This record gives sequence, C-alpha cells and structure tokens, in this order.
Amino acid sequence: MIIKPKIRGFICTTAHPEGCAAHVNRQIDYIKDNTAIQGAKKVLVIGASTGYGLASRIAASFGMGADTIGVSYERPASEGRTASAGWYNTVAFERAARAAGYIAESINGDAFSHEIKQETLKLVKEKLGKVDLIVYSVASPRRTHPDTGETFNSVLKPIGQPFTNKTVNTNTGVVSEITLEPATQEEIDNTITVMGGEDWSLWLKALEEADLLADGVTTLAYSYIGPEITEAIYRKGTIGQAKNDLEATAHTLTKQLERYQGKAYVSVNKALVTQSSSAIPVVPLYISLLFKVMKEKGLHEGCIEQAQRLFEKLYSGSTVETDEEGRIRLDNWEMREDVQQAVKAAWSEITTENVSERGDLEQYRLDFLQLFGFGFEEINYELDVDPEVHV
Ligand code: NAI
Repeated sequence: MIIKPKIRGFICTTAHPEGCAAHVNRQIDYIKDNTAIQGAKKVLVIGASTGYGLASRIAASFGMGADTIGVSYERPASEGRTASAGWYNTVAFERAARAAGYIAESINGDAFSHEIKQETLKLVKEKLGKVDLIVYSVASPRRTHPDTGETFNSVLKPIGQPFTNKTVNTNTGVVSEITLEPATQEEIDNTITVMGGEDWSLWLKALEEADLLADGVTTLAYSYIGPEITEAIYRKGTIGQAKNDLEATAHTLTKQLERYQGKAYVSVNKALVTQSSSAIPVVPLYISLLFKVMKEKGLHEGCIEQAQRLFEKLYSGSTVETDEEGRIRLDNWEMREDVQQAVKAAWSEITTENVSERGDLEQYRLDFLQLFGFGFEEINYELDVDPEVHV
C-alpha cells in the first residue's frame, strides 16, 4: 500500500508505519545523546503511544534504563485502512526497547475501564513487579465511567461569557476571528469527569490494592497553564477546570502515598503540536507564533526534550523544584517575560497575509505531519509498505 497523508480538519486519518518508526527512533537518539539519569527502573505509562506519554516512555527506557508497560487506545490496521500513528509508534518503541534489552510490553484498550486496569495489573505483576514511576498522560475527548457505564464528552469552551479571538486554519493559513459560546454547567462537569484527576486516582488505587507500588514511588500527570491570549479557552475554560481538578488530585495522592514515602506531581508542560492540542481553537495560532519566537531565542523544545528535562528535574537533585502550588514547571521557557512579550506583539498584528512570516506555520505543519509519520526526508513515501505491523 502507498500511504499518503489524508488530512480532515485537525486530524490525519492515515499514518505511515515507517515514518512513525523514524519519529520514535529520532526521539530515542535524542535521549541516548543526553546524559543518562539514575531514576526509575519499573515504569507504567498510561497514554503511552503519542505525544508526552510516548516521549516519557522513551526517556524512561533509554535515559533511565527502565522496563516499561504502556497503556494506550489505538487502532490496528484493517481492510485497507492504516493503523493509527500511536499503534505504529508503540510497535516501533517495543522493537527498539527490546532490542536494547529492556522489558517493553503494551496494552491496547480503554484505560478508563475496570477491565483494562485489571489486565494491566496482571501484566505489571508478571513482568515488572512493583513500579516506581507511574506516568498518567491520557488525553481523550470522552470517557465511559467504569461504574455507571455512562459516557461523558469533554468540550473546549470558555466559561461565563463568549470568547472571541484570532484563530488559524493550519491547512490553508487563513487567519480569522472565532467566537466560542460559553459552556453550560453540565459541559463543565463532564469535561472534569473526562480530563480531571478521577481516573488517575483510580489507577493509583488499583495499583495500591494489588500491592504493586514500590517504596519511594512517584506518579506524574501533565497540565498546561499558558498565557493571557489562550486563557479564556484554556486555563479559565472547561479544560482548565479539569486541570485544576487534576492538580488537586496530585495533593490528595501525595497524602495517600505517604506510607510509601511516595509523591504525586503535576508537571506543567510547554504548548506543543500533538493530536490533542491541534483540536483546541486559537491554540494552534498561538503555538505557531510561540515556535517562531522560541526558535529565534534558541529555546525551542519538543515532547522529547521536555521529557528529558522533566526526569532531570525529578531525579537529579535531592529535592524537586516546584512552584508554590507544588507543580513542576517545564513551561518556564515558554512563559519567560521576553518570550511572551514577543508573542503578544506578533499576536496583535497577525493576519492571513503575514502569518507565514510572523509565525512558524511551516514548523507547525511539519510537526503535525510527523505526528502521523509523514514529512521525514529519510522515508520514500512512493514505496509500497505493509500497513499491518506487529511486534
Ligand atoms: P496525545 O493525544 O498525543 O496522547 C494521548 C494519549 O492518550 C495517547 O497515547 C492515546 O492512545 C491515549 N488515550 C486516549 N484515550 C485513551 C483511553 N480511553 N484509554 C487508553 N489510552 C487513551 O496527547 P498529549 O498532548 O500528549 O497529552 C497528554 C497530556 O499532556 C494531557 O494531559 C495534556 O493535557 C497534557 N499537555 C499537553 C500539552 C500540549 O500542548 N500538547 C501541553 C501541556 C500538557
């Protein structure tokens, strides 16, 4: 099969197995080129197949020498359709990690369900024993509650009043104004149910009950804050409410982990192009301006650079540096005064005519394509490839 990108709005419905492997291997190479970290050795990553979760898994194995189990929800290839990118990424990761001598096992299914939790616990017990790091990096538009069977959808909306701002169609480069209507209370509550901390704590509870938490265990989940430009749609919007809940969950979990001398952290990460962030209105335009500024200042990072910096912060000193709310701040370069001033100045002037020059739409598009295994110069996309790959 000859596989080309098929972009529909903010998703790409195809993925390239060899391109995804190239993407994974580049991230592995980056980690191998960095100094090894003495940290966790038995790691469970929930949401392990793309974006921040995948980068965390790569950095755990190739940077800390950890054995890993990854949970994700991906689509295998079928009837002339390619698998999803996360499926190919997982195969590529497992192959590379096993070849390097690490245990690498994966579970594909709904992490929110009791069944997948139980299946994972069984595998953890069998392959890893007790875990010393649990990374929770699930991003999902919906969640079926494991006890009631009710399905909740998350929304990306402002709260209280409509929000109008600029946005870009990243495919056409057209900058326009968008108005988003405020969420209802039910939509806010549902978004918290999907993206808040409940499922993270259910995972920790299940691991504790199965006696699979090691002494000194750490657990991590990821959050975002961002600037004033995106505040109404992000931090003060529905997703921000879910992040507040996630951050509060870290404090509750830390208390629960006291008997293991364990800690739960939320790490506030940088805005990056991932399958999840491209779905948020206004944010892709902000990201493309941010990338331009951060590159000019030599501060640009992707998921893998952030994962490396995170594990350095977590494991290199005797104390972990946090803000006053106890959060690890990997967004410190994004939020630097000079960076934000420059983005703000560009934002006020941005139009369809100058977006390619004032923003880095090219980098945005390339990053987006690469999420699906396209845009790698070492891959010949004219060649026939088998979409059915398995470890
Ligand atoms: P992503 O879309 O790249 O990854 C989501 C992961 O969750 C995938 O591995 C997917 O398979 C898995 N997943 C989704 N539904 C699942 C389910 N029902 N069961 C099992 N696995 C499931 O997302 P990204 O951007 O890496 O997000 C991860 C976390 O990082 C989120 O909490 C997000 O809010 C946070 N974050 C993202 C930032 C960004 O700019 N992308 C910035 C800061 C934080």
